[in-house]
Amino acid sequence: MNLDDEICYCYHVPMRKLINYAKRVKPQRHSQMTECLGAGTGCGWCIPFLVKIATDPDAFAESELSAEEYAAQRTVYRSTGAEKNTFKASEA
Ligand code: FES
Repeated sequence: MNLDDEICYCYHVPMRKLINYAKRVKPQRHSQMTECLGAGTGCGWCIPFLVKIATDPDAFAESELSAEEYAAQRTVYRSTGAEKNTFKASEA
């Protein structure tokens, strides 16, 4: 993925915004990432990725996952009706 790829599809928040936010704010709680343009407050798909960015912004930028793979995984998440991702579950 590159910096201009969207991490939160629901609110169209690109990785660059999230990484810059995490570096600037240094969130004390992962759920603070929602304060960056509402990321994570829709379907919940991106929450585990927001947690990774909050924890180590530089590491996630080097992710091997392609934008196409990321989008395909979200499609599966949305179609299975699985339990919605939450920050609480990601922090457990
Ligand atoms: S993709 Fe981020 S909340 Fe849906």
